[in-house]
Amino acid sequence: MTKKYPFLDLKQANAPIEQELKQAAIDVISSGRYLHGEQTAMLEQEIATLCGTQHCVAVSNGLDALRLILRAYKELGRLHEGDAVIVPGNTFVASVLAVSDNGLRPIMCDPRSDTMNLDSNAAVRLVERHHAKAIMPVHLYGTPCWDQTLVELAHNHGLIIIEDNAQAIGAMAAVTGLNGTRATGGLGHAAGISFYPTKNLGALGDAGAVTTCDETLASTVRALANYGSDRRYHNVYQGLNCRIDELQAAMLRVKLRHISAETERRNHIAATYRDAITNPVVTTPAMFEGTTQVWHQYVICVKERDRFRSYMEEHGIGTDIHYATPPHMQPCYKNLASEPLPVTETLASQVVSLPIAHPITTDDARHIAHIINAFR
Ligand SMILES: Cc1ncc(COP(=O)(O)O)c(C=O)c1O
Repeated sequence: MTKKYPFLDLKQANAPIEQELKQAAIDVISSGRYLHGEQTAMLEQEIATLCGTQHCVAVSNGLDALRLILRAYKELGRLHEGDAVIVPGNTFVASVLAVSDNGLRPIMCDPRSDTMNLDSNAAVRLVERHHAKAIMPVHLYGTPCWDQTLVELAHNHGLIIIEDNAQAIGAMAAVTGLNGTRATGGLGHAAGISFYPTKNLGALGDAGAVTTCDETLASTVRALANYGSDRRYHNVYQGLNCRIDELQAAMLRVKLRHISAETERRNHIAATYRDAITNPVVTTPAMFEGTTQVWHQYVICVKERDRFRSYMEEHGIGTDIHYATPPHMQPCYKNLASEPLPVTETLASQVVSLPIAHPITTDDARHIAHIINAFR
């Protein structure tokens, strides 16, 4: 029987740490503390350390993390209803939802076709044309979206930089002037993380976090996420309930012990795919010197995508698409005036994600590459 390579099987992906997860769950159940407890406080410290920030506020999910950051900037008078915020054209819809949900104006920016991340040169023109007040680089697929043009653009126009770090926990970007790298989540003014179960650091349900070095922003986010209260029964804002629970915090703390090994494993698979895929009809993603990409997805481009995916399926290899319909083409944004986004639309028609999660090994990746190379 030929071996099957599912795109992602979460039960299998979590199997190596199942006992650790079960024990951590038992400990939380026995503690009698299910919200605002020790697990959440410890998780916040550990995530802040990983991202190199002074503060972390753990919340309900990644979308809420981004929504809360933008809402906090509004409450602090740094953003106002109708302000333009630059977001990449090719991202998961949540990046854009966070902006529009706050009454802000998402301005979609085309990506570079090599990085598939926001093109900071294109962003310069959009910031000037729309008088944007903030920019949201998305570290898509686990590749940091960070360069000197972006930094200078933000500096010259006083832009707030909100990183969408949903897909890139543990990634490191080269930072000019620092002579080294800095972790995503600690590059801009604030960042939102998603711990959705499929993420490299995934909970067993929904969870997310905000990271920042700005103490005022962190305390505003914390209050907003807890009914807008700065202390018990004292509501400064008309807030929300965006709490994380102790069980998810505990699951994430178990997974945090393994995140460096997981990043390293993904890097080996990505390097194997890069070296072994030689079919000229396939474009493999760029790798960047001096940058740690965490390969949340390994995304190739193939013009005849449907035929390619059927061929892979026939060989027992699961694939996925991230994302087939970009936000500006979603029905919910049909009234949103958008600049032409040719690169976004081409990518949306060609991207294919290959299996990379555990239990895929480098041998599996070589075999998958061999099948890809025989595609005609
Ligand atoms: C780029 C991006 N932004 C935001 C989110 C939203 O995160 P969540 O699903 O935890 O709300 C996700 C993940 O799903 C994502 O991939």
